[in-house]
Amino acid sequence: MTLPDGFVFGAATAAFQIEGAAWMDGRRDSIWDAFCRVPGAVVDGDDGSVACDHYHRYPEDVALMASLGLDAYRFSISWARVVPDDAAVNPAGLAFYDRLVDTLLEAGIRPWPTLYHWDLPQAREELGGWPARETAERFVEYALAVHGALGDRLGTWTTFNEPWCSSFLSYTAGAHAPGRRSAPDGVAAGHHLLLAHGMAAAALKSAGASEVGITLNLAPVRALRPDDAGDRDAARRIDGQFNRFFLDPLFRGHYADDLRADLAPYGIDDVVREGDLAAIRDSLDFLGVNYYHGETVSVLPPETRLRQDAPTSRETGSPFPASDGIHWHPTGAPVTAMGWEVEPHGLTELLERVSRDYTGPAGIPVYVTENGAAFDDVVAEDGSVPDADRVAFLQAHLDAVSEARWRGVDVRGYFYWSLLDNFEWAWGYEKRFGLVRVDYDTQQRTLKDSALAYRDAIAAARAGI
Ligand code: BGC
Ligand code: BGC
Repeated sequence: MTLPDGFVFGAATAAFQIEGAAWMDGRRDSIWDAFCRVPGAVVDGDDGSVACDHYHRYPEDVALMASLGLDAYRFSISWARVVPDDAAVNPAGLAFYDRLVDTLLEAGIRPWPTLYHWDLPQAREELGGWPARETAERFVEYALAVHGALGDRLGTWTTFNEPWCSSFLSYTAGAHAPGRRSAPDGVAAGHHLLLAHGMAAAALKSAGASEVGITLNLAPVRALRPDDAGDRDAARRIDGQFNRFFLDPLFRGHYADDLRADLAPYGIDDVVREGDLAAIRDSLDFLGVNYYHGETVSVLPPETRLRQDAPTSRETGSPFPASDGIHWHPTGAPVTAMGWEVEPHGLTELLERVSRDYTGPAGIPVYVTENGAAFDDVVAEDGSVPDADRVAFLQAHLDAVSEARWRGVDVRGYFYWSLLDNFEWAWGYEKRFGLVRVDYDTQQRTLKDSALAYRDAIAAARAGI
């Protein structure tokens, strides 16, 4: 691995997944608090009320980060803490992030905040949620309130984490909060998230922010049989609804014609208003890319089931409105505890594609803002956590980033998902992604072998080894 000095090594978390203290200091329900109460929505009925108790234990967690030598910490801010009832700003909620940011800066760790990682205030959902255009305006107000409190110490802002998940997975598949199952709602939500990003980016820059980005979950989408026209068209459709829906407006100021035709039956032409695309375009100083695995699609049904897609007893649908007749196929690669294939080369392939088609011509840098794996970790008798699979995963993906740099991609950082084992959404606490094990009975933290391997890799990169 050859990653240069100055390359940003970090780890990532998200507010709802770690903070707990769900109703403390004026915080109110987010859509995830409400969703956790829906019978069957989350495995074992788990919720975020305590999670990793990071709200109280953040000094210990920052000390752990410092012990690993992390350059940066990517975390998210809870809108439901800052603007609890979709009305007035809550200073007590903002004060938590104020303390966190100061603690990070004192430890020499760069705070890398994301304004929205899926936890819309429930009060805002009841007023229409992301399918309502007004939510984009409320987001800008919230973003400016956070900037007002922390902008004196923070220059780099990320608006959204994975808008595909906050739109299609949440409003079309119903797999995530708020659990709606409507194709038009997913399309409207996706467009309004992009619009909210564009408007907030402009507002933050006017308020003095130096850099604004967005984080997208992206994947290479391949046709199972590249010489089959049906499979190629399946790959085109899924690439459109997963990757290009977000990349094209941000970098080219349009939705591609083929995607627009695929989504026309679901109302895309009704939600895109004049001026929207201009507000979204060229609004980035950097792009965050989250990568977990690739997608191989075909019009042929697979012989074996690929992923564990329906963790709960609740019925969910496809997140892709225009995907009739499309099936996902395994590639034969080993899988993680999520059933996700381990494909490090897919990260190199994805970064090269993003750079060639989007970020390279625009001259903007890329950061891998999430990449990681859940495994069924076992605690050894001596208390250590020998997670050899995760060590191998991490090293292979750092090599994949290094390979992308060698091929000319301007990728400047890597954040492992996640710092801590945490609330894995519809899977509850069952899936563990952390570099650090969390014992949920005692809240004890233990560095896994992967944390130690990451620490050593960071030290080696700094030493130029
Ligand atoms: C599933 C889809 C899912 C896609 C992307 C497929 O295995 O069938 O529902 O969204 O993978 O992860
Ligand atoms: C999300 C994280 C999540 C991780 C693993 C990403 O899509 O941003 O919140 O825990 O994937 O599923």
